[in-house]
Amino acid sequence: MIALFSVLLALLAPQASEAAISGELNCTTYNGTSFVYTPSAVACSNAISDDSCQVLYPATDAAIGWPAAGNDAERPLACYTTATATPAAVVPDMVSAALKNCAKTCGLCCKTPAYDCPNVQFPRLNCATITQSQCMSSQWRTIIATDCPSACGFCNDGGCVDGVVDCNNDRSICQSVGMQDFVNQYCQKTCQRCSSTTPSTGTGGSCSSFIADSSTACAAWATNGFCTNTFYTAAQRRSYCATTCRLC
Ligand SMILES: *[C@@H]1O[C@H](CO)[C@@H](O)[C@H](O)[C@H]1NC(C)=O
Ligand SMILES: *[C@@H]1O[C@H](CO)[C@@H](O)[C@H](O)[C@H]1NC(C)=O
Repeated sequence: MIALFSVLLALLAPQASEAAISGELNCTTYNGTSFVYTPSAVACSNAISDDSCQVLYPATDAAIGWPAAGNDAERPLACYTTATATPAAVVPDMVSAALKNCAKTCGLCCKTPAYDCPNVQFPRLNCATITQSQCMSSQWRTIIATDCPSACGFCNDGGCVDGVVDCNNDRSICQSVGMQDFVNQYCQKTCQRCSSTTPSTGTGGSCSSFIADSSTACAAWATNGFCTNTFYTAAQRRSYCATTCRLC
């Protein structure tokens, strides 16, 4: 009986450990039973070809494949560790290399600069469930850019995006008399129709040295009111952009 039980365990154990995300849990969310990838884990493009990434970062469990929104495939190990089996410790250099080249294949898009910024404190929609089709939708894009920039890779856009994606193909529409209603509604960024926000370096205390910014995009965020808009908490400002916002 005990022998049978251990045979069963041996059969079950590898499956149980492979169909779960372990180690590096960024870009995942707990769905009640498992950690699964968020839509923004795989929303970006790889910097090199997808084929090359799949060779460099082979799927840990061929049956499930690579990270996808909502699945719980173990991340390819080389995306975050030098170890060859789980449990494996996170090796920051491996994560940096994966982020640079193959963020999508590794399910790490949410940590790339365009996706790694705070959302407003009280977004009008649930930022965690925004899908790729919402990111492309003219109905949604401007709301998402304001409330949930991290969900669609709008972190460097300062809250100003085009409602439709191809405005830039023909910039003459910005001047076309018959197109003004259209561009005001759909080509805000390309035609510079976003309501301008005064760039701000924030107010601050009386100190003269500040904690370093942890994000490289603070200048762009400040333009969008990150340092002054009450949508963001003081804690968010301090943890991302203490220097830019001049917080002691
Ligand atoms: C997410 O990544 C950061 C480094 O960017 C790391 O410090 C942190 O431990 C990771 N969090 C999880 C839950 O894996
Ligand atoms: C959570 O995700 C796992 C893996 O994809 C799935 O099997 C399970 O049904 C999901 N649970 C819920 C409550 O959605």
